[in-house]
Amino acid sequence: MKTRFTEMFGVKYPIVQGGMQWVGRAELVAAVANAGALGFITALTQPTPEDLRTEIARCRELTDQPFGVNLTILPTLKPPPYEEYRNVIIESGIRIVETAGNNPEEHLKHFKAHGIKIIHKCTAVRHSLKAERLGVDAISIDGFECAGHPGEDDIPGLVLIPAAADKVKIPMIASGGFADGRGLVAALALGADGMNMGTRFMCTKESPIHENIKKQIVENDERATDLVNRVLRNTSRVARNSISQEVLGIQSQPETTIADVAHLVSGQRGKVVYETGDKEHGMWTAGMVQGLIHDIPTAKELIDTIIADAERIIQERLHGSLKPA
Ligand SMILES: Cc1cc2nc3c(=O)[nH]c(=O)nc-3n(C[C@H](O)[C@H](O)[C@H](O)COP(=O)(O)O)c2cc1C
Repeated sequence: MKTRFTEMFGVKYPIVQGGMQWVGRAELVAAVANAGALGFITALTQPTPEDLRTEIARCRELTDQPFGVNLTILPTLKPPPYEEYRNVIIESGIRIVETAGNNPEEHLKHFKAHGIKIIHKCTAVRHSLKAERLGVDAISIDGFECAGHPGEDDIPGLVLIPAAADKVKIPMIASGGFADGRGLVAALALGADGMNMGTRFMCTKESPIHENIKKQIVENDERATDLVNRVLRNTSRVARNSISQEVLGIQSQPETTIADVAHLVSGQRGKVVYETGDKEHGMWTAGMVQGLIHDIPTAKELIDTIIADAERIIQERLHGSLKPA
């Protein structure tokens, strides 16, 4: 498959494995790269910038194909040392960065000065256009269905992707709710140049999370998520469990603040979930697309199946539908 995305980023297939906190580690990213798609190591999963340097080196030992690093800019009281993470990305010779979470302006000029290509992930047409004006190379637009941070506008991909495609001129990948060949064809039909997946890649053999969580994703259907932290205007879509329900219970009360739920929403608890497989230990991220995930393939099996299915849909179903009866 050839699209503006594959041409710009030098990958075989227009498929991306976006940044995933605690999941976007070398073994998954390398497996995605070896299968012909574009994977991103998640910078902030590494406790220090030096750990990120080691993780990038480890990924290079596992693949000679292109891969990138995700730098998520979070609204937090105690920000991580972004500049140091950024320097490690540059010094390690990374050629592609996915920025997300907030305006990437502060980091852009540094990456650009080193010829690094930037995909900025956002959740609104206006933010895409702003990023385009700032000079990013491509946009990843995340619809309301997505795992993680869908923003506050609640526009699903079926509207958001073509609305963005009508205005954004640079290559764009569609994100949120994609899992299979049907999704890839839909993304292209809606005007995107490829698709990005998070939850689907969590549920692959190489994904470095506990088997129980992968099995839970297979068991869950499309209703098994909660939107927490809406009252804080920092909405997050997580897999529904006892903790997400407890958070929602607290947040249904008037005038709640982050302090009321801080003990429940800590990212460290989510990390323990992925490590131990105890799905009720904390909140963990997954999207509505759980309803389309029925197996735990290798990344290569997944990507090969997606491409084969997409080709079949285009050549047989869609092309066939043009023929006279
Ligand atoms: C476990 C998990 C962790 C995530 N962490 C991040 C993150 O740290 N930074 C980021 O930009 N996106 C993060 N995301 C969002 C994904 O990159 C992607 O945009 C999203 O999963 C797309 O929706 P989908 O899950 O329906 O495919 C995360 C997603 C998951 C499933």
